Amino acid sequence: MKKTKIYLIGAGPGDPELLSLKAVKAIQNSQAILYDQLVNKEVLKHAAPETKLVYVGKKKGAHVIPQDEINNLLVDLASKYDVVSRLKGGDPFIFGRGGEELEHLARHGYSCEVIPGITAASAAAAAIGLPLSHRDYASQIIFITGHKKEDGDYSAFTELDLHDKTAVIYMGVTALSEMVSEICKKNGNCNIPVAIIENATLPLQRVVRGNLGNISEIAQKADVKPPALLIIGNVVNFMDNIEKIKNEV
Ligand SMILES: C[S@@+](CC[C@H](N)C(=O)[O-])C[C@H]1O[C@@H](n2cnc3c(N)ncnc32)[C@H](O)[C@@H]1O
Repeated sequence: MKKTKIYLIGAGPGDPELLSLKAVKAIQNSQAILYDQLVNKEVLKHAAPETKLVYVGKKKGAHVIPQDEINNLLVDLASKYDVVSRLKGGDPFIFGRGGEELEHLARHGYSCEVIPGITAASAAAAAIGLPLSHRDYASQIIFITGHKKEDGDYSAFTELDLHDKTAVIYMGVTALSEMVSEICKKNGNCNIPVAIIENATLPLQRVVRGNLGNISEIAQKADVKPPALLIIGNVVNFMDNIEKIKNEV
C-alpha cells in the first residue's frame, strides 16, 4: 500500500457544529481536500490557509461531476500530497458512494481511514424532536434511496410494509408522488403519516407534514426542494403526542 494518508470524512448534515472532533483534526492536517455540494463551507474553515480545496459538487446550471472523474481526481491528489481528505455530506457510507471511492483507491494501492458523520436521517429526526424508533411506534428503521437504479427498479417501495417500521427516504423529492402512491398501495392505507424535512439543521430548515395520500400535493404547494428527507411511519404522530403531553402538564 502507498503511504499517502487519506481520510474519507462525513461532514454531517449541514450544521457545521455537528462535525466530529476527529473530522476537525483530519481537516486541519490535510494538504488537499475534495468536497461535495452538501458540505457546509464553514467546515472548510478548519483547513489551513494553504490547503488545496477542490469542489466536486454540482456547478451552477451544470450537471454533477461523474463519479469516475471524482475517483480519478482523488487518486491524482493522493499521488501529489501526503495527507488528503475526501469530505462528504452526512455519513460517507450512507448513500454517499463512499464505498466506491474506497474501492477505487484500493485498486490504485491506497488505503483510507473512514471518519463517520451524522447522517441526514439522525440529524433531521433530532432537529424536529422525532425519535426514529420508539417502543410504541416502530421497532425497525429502513433507509431508502429515492433514486431509481438504471433499470428503473422501484421494488424497495412496492415491498414496503410499514407496520411497526419507520422508513426514511433520501433523495425522494423528485419522485415523491410515484413513491408515496406505491407505498400507499402496498400498505392498503394512505393515512400513514409523513414528515418532510428540508434543509435539516440549517437556518432554512422547514418541515412539511401530511400522510401518504396527500403529502405529494402538500409538498408541491410548499415548493419543497432538495436537500429534503422523508420520514414515513406512525412515529411521525409522536410529534403531536409530545405537544399534547406538554399542554397537559
Ligand atoms: C446523496 S445523499 C447523501 C446522504 C448523506 N451521505 C448522509 O448520510 O446524510 C443526499 C440526500 O441526503 C438527504 N440530506 C442530506 N442533507 C440533508 C439536510 N440537511 N436536510 C434534509 N435532507 C438532507 C437528502 O435526501 C439529499 O437528497
